[in-house]
Amino acid sequence: MITNTELEHKGNLYPTGLISYEHDQDSINFITKNGVRLQLTILRDNMIRFRYTTNGIFEDDFSYAVDEDHPHGFNQLKVEEDQTHIIITTEKFICKVARDDIRVGMYTLEGKPIVEDELGFHWEESFEFGGNFVKMSKASRDQENFFGLGDKPTNFNLKGKRLSLWNTDQYAYGKDTVELYKAVPFYMGLHNNLSYGIFFDNTFKTHFDFCHERRNVTSFWADGGEMNYYFIYGPQMSDVLTTYTDLTGKPELPPMWALGFHQCKWSYYPESKVKEIASKFRELNFPCDAIYLDIDYMDGFRCFTWNKEYFPDPKRMVKELEEDGFKTVAIIDPGIKIDLNYSVFKEALENDYFCRRADGPYMRGKVWPGECYFPDFTNPEVREWWSGLYRELIGDIGVKGIWNDMNEPAVMEVPGKTFPLDVRHEYDGNRCSHRKAHNIYGMQMARSTYEGVKKFNFPKRPFIITRANYSGGQRYTSTWTGDNIATWEHLWLANVQIQRLCMSGMSFAGSDIGGFAEQPSGELYTRWLQLGIFHPFCRVHSSGDHGEQEPWFFGEEVLEITRKYVELRYQLLPYLYTAFYKYVQEGMPILKPLVYFDQEDVQTHYRSDEFIFGNKILVCPVQEPNVQGRRMYIPRGKWYNFWNDKLITGGREMYIDAPLDIIPIFIKEGALIPKYPVQQYVDEKKLEQINLDLYYKLGKETSDFYEDAHDGYEYRQNVYSLRTFKLTGKEDEVILQQHKSGKYSAPYSTFKLKLHGIPFEIKRVFYENEEVTLEDLQYNAEENSMIIDKDFSELHLVG
Ligand code: GLC
Repeated sequence: MITNTELEHKGNLYPTGLISYEHDQDSINFITKNGVRLQLTILRDNMIRFRYTTNGIFEDDFSYAVDEDHPHGFNQLKVEEDQTHIIITTEKFICKVARDDIRVGMYTLEGKPIVEDELGFHWEESFEFGGNFVKMSKASRDQENFFGLGDKPTNFNLKGKRLSLWNTDQYAYGKDTVELYKAVPFYMGLHNNLSYGIFFDNTFKTHFDFCHERRNVTSFWADGGEMNYYFIYGPQMSDVLTTYTDLTGKPELPPMWALGFHQCKWSYYPESKVKEIASKFRELNFPCDAIYLDIDYMDGFRCFTWNKEYFPDPKRMVKELEEDGFKTVAIIDPGIKIDLNYSVFKEALENDYFCRRADGPYMRGKVWPGECYFPDFTNPEVREWWSGLYRELIGDIGVKGIWNDMNEPAVMEVPGKTFPLDVRHEYDGNRCSHRKAHNIYGMQMARSTYEGVKKFNFPKRPFIITRANYSGGQRYTSTWTGDNIATWEHLWLANVQIQRLCMSGMSFAGSDIGGFAEQPSGELYTRWLQLGIFHPFCRVHSSGDHGEQEPWFFGEEVLEITRKYVELRYQLLPYLYTAFYKYVQEGMPILKPLVYFDQEDVQTHYRSDEFIFGNKILVCPVQEPNVQGRRMYIPRGKWYNFWNDKLITGGREMYIDAPLDIIPIFIKEGALIPKYPVQQYVDEKKLEQINLDLYYKLGKETSDFYEDAHDGYEYRQNVYSLRTFKLTGKEDEVILQQHKSGKYSAPYSTFKLKLHGIPFEIKRVFYENEEVTLEDLQYNAEENSMIIDKDFSELHLVG
C-alpha cells in the first residue's frame, strides 16, 4: 500500500495562491492561480462546509447522507481580510483562509486553535480510473484524541490508527479488521477540552489516518469524488454530535417492542421449531418480544417467497405467534435468484431494475440462492418497486419487522467479495460506477425497505435492521455488528463497537449476543447478555451449525441469571424509551462513552469498558472468564451501587465485586428512574402502577420520563407525555417537583416512589402543599416506598 508520505513525493498537487474571493449570503468562493476553487458555506453557527474542486467546476451537489429537512441558518457571518488571510467569523468560531495556499485554520472566538490544515487540501491524479484521489491533512495537537467512524472493531480512541471505509462482508472478523460492514466517515477530535467533528461526505472508498503515519498529522482522503467535508465545532462533544445528527438525520421512534428482547438463529425452521422456541420462552417465563426467520423460511432463498413445506401457512403462524406476544421478523437479502419462473426476478428483469456491468450485461454474482442479479437501489423507481414488494409479507401475512443482510453488497467466491467496480448505478440521476455507489448500496436498500414496511404496517411503526449502512442511514434503520465470534475478545469488541456506533449517530445498534460463529460457554453467554441488555438493540443470534444459543441451553444457573437480566431490561424499558426519545429529538447518543459524558476529565479519554446507559446509569461489563470482580473507573460525581445502594464518590478507579450473577451498575445520585413491572413482552399487561426509583442527592438534579402509546403515530399529534422531575435534596429535606407536557394519559394512575439513600428519617410530608401523614401515602417502611398520584406536582419530605 502506498503511504500518504510517499504520495507527497509522487505527484501530489496543491492549490497555489489566491486570485480572488467573493461571498454571497452564506458562502464564500475562493479561486486560486492554478484553478482550484474552494467553496465554503456556513450552515450553522457551529458548522461550515468545505468543497474543493481542482478545475474550477463543481460536480452536481447531491448527498444521500444529508437529511433534506436538516435545520439551516446562523446568526452571524463576518468576512474580513488582512495581509495574509481572509477571516470569517461566525457566532461560534473563526475560520482563516491563507492567501498563499488557501490552507484553513479554525479557531475559537478567543483565538485558540481548534484544528488547522497541515498540508491542507491536495490531490493526485488517478491514472487507473481517471479523476483524482482527493486528500486533506490536518495538524493534530498535543494530547489530541479521536473518536467515531461507525462500527470499526478497534480501540475506542482512534489515535494511532489508520482505517478505511469500504463496506465488506467480514465473516468472523477480528480486532483491528480494517474494513467492516458500514461506512460512517465522521469523527470527533478532542484536545484542551475543545471538541470538533469532521464529516467527510464522500461515498467512494475513504481513508482516515489518526497520527498513525506521522505522529502529529491527521489525514483523510478518498479514491475519487470531491473533497467535501463539514467542520462542526463543539466545544462539547454533545454539541458536535447533535449538529452532526441534525445534518444527517435522526430516526423516528421505534415501536417499543423493538426494544424488548429478541431471539434469532440461522435458522429456526420449520414452523414447529419456531413455535417450540416461542413456547419455551413463555413456559420458562423468559421475556421475549421477537423471533426471527433467517434465510431458510424462503423457497430456495428467493426473497419474498416461502418454503411451503416448512411453513405451510405463514399468515396463521405469524398470527398465532402474535397472540402469544411474539413479533415475527424476516430476513430479506438483495440478491435475486436468476429464475424466469420467479415473479420478483421477472418483474425486475422486465423493468430493467437490475444493476448492469459497464459494458452492458447484468451484474451477476453468487449469494445464498446461487447465481443472482441485484436491484439497483440507487434508482428511485427501483426503491419504489422494492418497497411495494413488502405488501404481502407485511400487509397481508403480518410480519412486523424486516432484517436486511448481505447488502454491502456481498458476493460469494469472488475476490473483493463484492461487485466489480465497473458496475453502473443510477445514483438518483447522478450516474456512476460502483466505486462511488458501493458504500451507499446497503443504505439505499434499507431505505427502500423502511418505506415499504412503513407503508404496509401503517398506522403501526416500522422496524428495520440492516448490516451495511452509510452516514444518515440511521434515519431508516437499526443495525447490528455482523458475524462476530463467541470469544471474550468479541465481547470486548461488542462493547466498543456499540459505543462507537452511538458516537457516530447510529445509536440503535446491538451485537449478536453470545457470538455468531462458534459456541460460547455458559459463562461467556451470561456475561455477554448482561452487557447486551444495555444495548439499544438486544438480540441473541448465532449460526445454528455451531450449536444452540437459547438461554435455557446452558443449564439452570445461566437461565436464572440471564432471565434476571432480561427482566431488568423490561423493567428499564420506560427509561430506555426516554433515552431513545432524547436520541430522536436531540441526537443524544443512547449510550454515552465516558469521554462524551465528561470530556473535561482526561481520565475518560482512554476509557472504553465503562459507559453511561441513557444519562443516569453507569455500566461496566465483565469481559474476562473466572473473575469475581473487576477494576473500573467511576466518573466524577457520586454514584449509588445499584445492587446495594452504597454511595461512592467517583473520579477514581475502584475494584467492584462482580460474581457471575452481577454486572457492575451504578446510578447517578439525584436520578429518578422509571420502571415498569416485569412483563413477558411489551404491553402484555395493562400497567396498574409503575415504580419511580429516587436516588437522594444533596443538591439539584433533573430527570426526564417520556411515554406514549408505545406504537403508532399519535405521539406526533401531541399524544405523548413528557415528565420532568426536579429533585432538590437538602440535609433534612427532599423536594420533588414534576412538570408534565403532552396529552397522553398513561393507563396507570399512581407511581410507587421508592426512596434510596435518604439520609434522614422522614417526619413530615407535604403533598401538593398540604401536610399529610406517611400512612396517607401508604408508606412502606421495609421498601422505603410510598404511593403518589402520577400527575403530582410537588412532594416535600422533611426530616
Ligand atoms: C450472514 C448474516 C447472519 C445470517 C446469515 C444467514 O452471515 O450476517 O446474521 O444469519 O448471513 O442469513
